[in-house]
Amino acid sequence: MTELKDRYDRKHTYLRISVTDRCNLRCLYCMPEEGMEFMDRDRLLTYEQIAEVVETAAGFGISKLRITGGEPLVRPGIAGLIATLKSIRGIEEISLTTNGLLLGPQAAALKRAGLDRVNISLDTLDSARFRFIARRGRLDKVLEGIEAAAEAGLGPIKLNCVLLKGVNEDEIGPFLRLSAEKPLHIRFIEYMPIGHDDAGWRDHYLPLTRVSEEADRLGLAYEPLPEGPAGNGPSENFRILGGAGSFGLIHPVSNHFCANCNRLRLTAEGDLKPCLYWVDELSVRPALGSPQAMRELFMKAMRIKPENHEMAALLAGDAQSHVPTGRRMSQIG
Ligand code: GTP
Ligand code: 5AD
Ligand code: SF4
Repeated sequence: MTELKDRYDRKHTYLRISVTDRCNLRCLYCMPEEGMEFMDRDRLLTYEQIAEVVETAAGFGISKLRITGGEPLVRPGIAGLIATLKSIRGIEEISLTTNGLLLGPQAAALKRAGLDRVNISLDTLDSARFRFIARRGRLDKVLEGIEAAAEAGLGPIKLNCVLLKGVNEDEIGPFLRLSAEKPLHIRFIEYMPIGHDDAGWRDHYLPLTRVSEEADRLGLAYEPLPEGPAGNGPSENFRILGGAGSFGLIHPVSNHFCANCNRLRLTAEGDLKPCLYWVDELSVRPALGSPQAMRELFMKAMRIKPENHEMAALLAGDAQSHVPTGRRMSQIG
């Protein structure tokens, strides 16, 4: 089988598939409060078209898929999509990144359809602050979603916590304790300048060195884990000594992990993106219906994939190095 290797010898085995740019929240690090101009639904790839792209990807050794959004569960029929994708030869694992709001009622059906696990966004444990960060929705619904996912066997469950200076940095301690008390994997994530004006991002960006400082201050001893609890993501993993769960650090800005990148992205509109933070996108639409053209597109993605993104240069004030993507995280996935 031909492998997907880029110019830097990185092997690609993981495809992130965004199924919608819509979301039922308006997290302040992701979307403006008034929402955005969402894509017309007829511009979305259909589930049949997504499956066609995945057929080609699987033929190149892509074995892991992640369904993302926006919020993937706002698009009807996700369980059906998962069942279809899981039946494609070579697809071994499917996971889902969700804000958890709609997970409670759907968790069991998603599991039955073949979903293996979920990563759930959770930036605060305080319900008033939840309304401040997410601007909509309710924390208790997300917590119900987490419970339902655990009951349905969608674990190991990872919680994504984007740390924002002046907003939730005082919750590092409570999240660390949660990782010790429950079998949950809490991932602290650095705020990335994706589709934002630089000033707003700079004001709230917090380097993850704050996490170890806080653990030391609280006298919480922790140890590195050689492997995370499932997944090939960019997280560096640790456990509070004797803890039931673990925690991870995802630090794309202060210390990027691009040398180990194993992923490609497919946007909801149908663009293959070699890198999260780079302008290049290759539309799969002209290749639909032609397996050969689709294969060539994947190989082109390997040829144009950059060595690394340049968020750190932006932090250092080197605007020249800023590669604006023009898209927000909810539009990329
Ligand atoms: P696992 O397979 O469970 O490890 O998933 P994951 O961590 O890859 O997926 P998830 O969707 O939960 O992403 C969590 C965070 O990782 C995102 O909020 C991003 O901050 C970061 N991330 C994911 N993919 C990329 C990437 O390609 N580049 C960069 N810079 N950050 C990424
Ligand atoms: N920086 C870091 N993480 C982000 N996410 C969304 N926008 C950003 C950003 N600008 C996170 C969400 C979700 C994950 C897929 O991406 O919280 O957990
Ligand atoms: Fe929605 Fe996720 Fe963006 Fe929050 S981070 S607004 S949950 S897409």
